[in-house]
Amino acid sequence: MTCGLPYVNGPAHIAHLRTYVPADIFVRFLRKMGQDVVFICSSDTHGTPITVKAEAEGVTPLDIVEEYHRHFLEFFPKMGIHFTNYGSTDHPFNHNRTIQIVEALKENGHVYAKNLKLPYCPNCDRFLPDRYQRGTCPHCGASARGDECDQGCGRYLEPGELMDPRCSICGTKPEMKETRHYFLKLTAFEDFLREYLPSLDGTDIARNYALQWVEGGLKDWNITRNLDWGVKVPGEEELVYYVWVDAPIGYIGSTEEWAERTGGDWEYYWKGPGALIHFIGPGIIYHHCLFWPSMLKGAGYSVPDAVIASGTMKVEGHVFSKSRGYVIWVEEDYLDKGLDPDALRYYIVSYTGHTRDLDFAWQPYTEKVNKELVGTLGNFLYRTLLFANRNYKAVPEGKVEPEVREEVEKTIETIRDGLDEYEFKKIADAIIGLAAYGNRYLQSREPWKLTKTESEKAAGVIHNCLWLTKALAVLMEPLLPFKVEAIWEQLGTPRKDAPLTEALEPLEIGTPIAKPTPLFEQISDETLAELSEMASKRIEEASG
Ligand code: MF3
Ligand code: ZN
Repeated sequence: MTCGLPYVNGPAHIAHLRTYVPADIFVRFLRKMGQDVVFICSSDTHGTPITVKAEAEGVTPLDIVEEYHRHFLEFFPKMGIHFTNYGSTDHPFNHNRTIQIVEALKENGHVYAKNLKLPYCPNCDRFLPDRYQRGTCPHCGASARGDECDQGCGRYLEPGELMDPRCSICGTKPEMKETRHYFLKLTAFEDFLREYLPSLDGTDIARNYALQWVEGGLKDWNITRNLDWGVKVPGEEELVYYVWVDAPIGYIGSTEEWAERTGGDWEYYWKGPGALIHFIGPGIIYHHCLFWPSMLKGAGYSVPDAVIASGTMKVEGHVFSKSRGYVIWVEEDYLDKGLDPDALRYYIVSYTGHTRDLDFAWQPYTEKVNKELVGTLGNFLYRTLLFANRNYKAVPEGKVEPEVREEVEKTIETIRDGLDEYEFKKIADAIIGLAAYGNRYLQSREPWKLTKTESEKAAGVIHNCLWLTKALAVLMEPLLPFKVEAIWEQLGTPRKDAPLTEALEPLEIGTPIAKPTPLFEQISDETLAELSEMASKRIEEASG
């Protein structure tokens, strides 16, 4: 299992989480169902996203890479996201694997060299790959950069395709200069892709976009760039591989790092029977569904079994944009303010379906936290544990009622469906639904009245509520891992990583129940006002 690699040219922002949070949840559930998963990610360290940033700051690309690699390495665990290996595409393993894969493609006749004329800035005295040029998108006419129509139709652009290019550093109109490049014969993979794509599992948007592009006609793919920073092309002084060659290969490189560290077998996952699953953002379907499977196929590796592409991220109702201020920096704006990582995980998956637009705004965030996490889930858990602690100090005698057991069974079914459909909202809703059922159950049985008259019945009700609490702990661990740790402690039975089936196991009578503390914190009106003001300030500053 992999997640799209973050470019390490800036800190983690909310749009990153749309890939990493659902993927982490998915992996945790797979493990709970007994699957062996290697969960892989890496810093994407090459290409013009890194070099442009380094130039802007007057430092080396390596400086940038080291700074933000460390940032991401420390950041992920703070959000409860745990990779089996978080590596780097600049690791020697990845340089070597990239060279090996391109060699294999060459041997199989899929790579050729060709001379072509590309924009060259006489003022900066260099070629202008990718983000070093801005111009007009040939497809939709929007202002675009060299590699991608970033403000219009979102299409991937080949070198030389951008119209009216300008140097993005100095604004000079470039000359066209001849240079030798290498190409992957993507056109030769058309039959393979036509057969492969319809059977590719994952979200419909990934499969359908990719099929559309195949229908629209494929073009051979330029896999080299005139740059210093990257994986050097053997025998070519001036060329490195395009970042979109060595980045996905970084999934393999990172698996090799893991294998070296643990004695694991990376080839089992990349050439053997293991299933290969990629979680990605919506902008990089082209690369994962056309280029990447073709590279793998042509070099003798397994091809992806599933590509799960999310919908886009919005901030306060606007398209996510760092430059326009529609951004949430997860560390600075959220975690450093003492806000709850679990609550953000919950918001990300429960706001809407995985392939739809997800809006992050402080107002609905506050409503969701206060109503669903505090009001429904936290309330049920707190009332149950408090009642149990006050009256029994331990799990009292009782039998799980068939109706209660059925609710948990139904919830497990829904969770399984959610996983099959890559619909994480379904899972979050099912868990809140189970807590809401718990509240209704508790309310209707009124154990507080029964303690005086029918103490056995009261104990039975609380036994059922505690049983539901345990079931909730098992089922919501992938979603809210920090909170669940606390629940296990309060239940007196640390059962981290309990398998899904543990949700239906009986409780041990007599297990001590500690005095609970509320799990979720209400967000006050003042806090909401502060957070909203921070957001509007950022947007103002960006536009002014
Ligand atoms: N860094 C790229 C981006 O942010 C994603 C790379 S994913 C990989 O768009 F497949 F190349 F690894
Ligand atoms: Zn366009």
